[in-house]
Order: sequence, then C-alpha cells, then structure tokens
Amino acid sequence: TYHLTVEDLEREILVVHARRDEYFGVDIKCKHKGCDINYQPTEKLFRCPCHGSEYDLAGANLKGPSVKPLNYYHAELRGNEVVVTVYGPNDTPPANATPPKDTTHREVADSSAASQQDSTGANKKSTGW
Ligand code: FES
Repeated sequence: TYHLTVEDLEREILVVHARRDEYFGVDIKCKHKGCDINYQPTEKLFRCPCHGSEYDLAGANLKGPSVKPLNYYHAELRGNEVVVTVYGPNDTPPANATPPKDTTHREVADSSAASQQDSTGANKKSTGW
C-alpha cells in the first residue's frame, strides 16, 4: 500500500496493489470520524480501526457506522510508475473516477476501457515506487 498526500488538492489517498495489474486509490480518512483506514489484503477491503467501518476497493460502504463512501481515484501502472488521477474537493470528478463495477469479487479482467485520461490536467505522477 502507498500513502499519497496531495497538499494543494487537500487529498490524502491510500493506493493499493490489490490484484495483478489492478490498483485502487481511495481517501485514507474514514468518513465516519476521520481515522485512517487500513487495507486488509486477504479480504481485499478497507477497514477503519476506530469503529469498524468497512469499504470495498472502490470506497463503497460495506459496513457501518460510516454511511458515506470514500472517494475513488483511478490508479494504473504505466511502465515503472503507478499513475493516480487526483482531483480536489471542488473539482468535477474526472471520467475515470467512476469505480469499476463489482470491486469485491471480480476476477482479473481486461481493464482497457478504464484507462482513458481525463482532460482536467489533474493527473499526478507518483515517484520513487
Ligand atoms: Fe472510522 Fe468511526 S472513524 S468507523
């Protein structure tokens, strides 16, 4: 897992390499009371240590008390870098911020349809991974 902080966009993002060729980025702060969520690799979900909220790989709620989803951020491997498309709280979410369907039990699938880039210029490249 990787913790990505984007100060100018007020985002703290957790990026996980969940399956072969599949990366997922979500807000690191739980939507209940703001604790940092943890990734559970065997269950392939995110769990909050404070009160037990759970979210799927795309940030959708699986278990309360949180009732709000985490924002999802598109992440993909390009060459040796994982590129995460980041957007701020006041930006229109880019087209690829739509989570893939069924992120809990999906088999590895062709993700070519999800690799389009947005035109907002908000792409951030990670370095040093
Ligand atoms: Fe995460 Fe309460 S802060 S469940």
